[in-house]
Amino acid sequence: MLHVEGLVAGYGKVQVLQQVSIAVPEGDLVTLIGSNGAGKTTTLRALSGMIVPEAGQIRIGGENVAGMTSAEITRRGLAHSPEGRRVFPVMTVADNLVMGAFTRLTGKRPKGDVQADIARMYELFPRLAERRGQLAGTLSGGEQQMLAMARALMLNPKVLLLDEPSMGLAPKLVEEVFAIIRQLKTQKVTMLLVEQFAAAALEVADYGYVLENGRISAHGPAAHLRDDPAVRAAYLGAAH
Ligand SMILES: Nc1ncnc2c1ncn2[C@@H]1O[C@H](COP(=O)(O)OP(=O)(O)O)[C@@H](O)[C@H]1O
Ligand SMILES: [Mg+2]
Repeated sequence: MLHVEGLVAGYGKVQVLQQVSIAVPEGDLVTLIGSNGAGKTTTLRALSGMIVPEAGQIRIGGENVAGMTSAEITRRGLAHSPEGRRVFPVMTVADNLVMGAFTRLTGKRPKGDVQADIARMYELFPRLAERRGQLAGTLSGGEQQMLAMARALMLNPKVLLLDEPSMGLAPKLVEEVFAIIRQLKTQKVTMLLVEQFAAAALEVADYGYVLENGRISAHGPAAHLRDDPAVRAAYLGAAH
């Protein structure tokens, strides 16, 4: 579904990603793990058109979207739940979800049944259902994270990019977020999950990539990476 080949990207003269290649097959959950500063967020920003890649191909269902604007890429069905729980703080939870369906409401993506999908989000994220009339800025960090995920899902995406959904959350909420990711996986949502919390990510994922200083240093079925001594030492040690 999503095929990234030889992606080179960065910020101005600072090249962060060096020839990154990643494949996310339809219905699979692929994780990109790596230390702080490895370039995970930069990868997702390049995929969703927030930064323009210098080289490489980003194919969504066969079409190369590298160089397109983020609006054009959104229309092709790529949704990005960004790092740091970006929600519209002075809009209600319900209105944030409607905004997630904006591209559908303007006819640039298949419209489907937006109301039914909002209802589905409230089933998946019961905490949001209880707070649907509340301004998003007044939600807790964990609830804002869930809203950012739900809003991205409202695109009915072909591929969902999740940037560190567990970041800064209390252990109980981390568990809740991962339970939701597992549920999305059973619903065959195609996902690329970026996580520093590598053990949990490799637990739910089908396949994993390790990013080190802007390069893919290892990749394989998630179960293999979990057993790889080098991966264990670097990312699955006592600190994680
Ligand atoms: N807006 C930016 N401008 C310049 N450099 C940046 C910017 N954002 C991130 N970087 C640099 O790019 C590198 C990769 O960062 P990032 O992709 O955020 O890593 P990760 O998400 O894996 O922690 C880091 O060296 C970081 O300092
Ligand atoms: Mg990051």
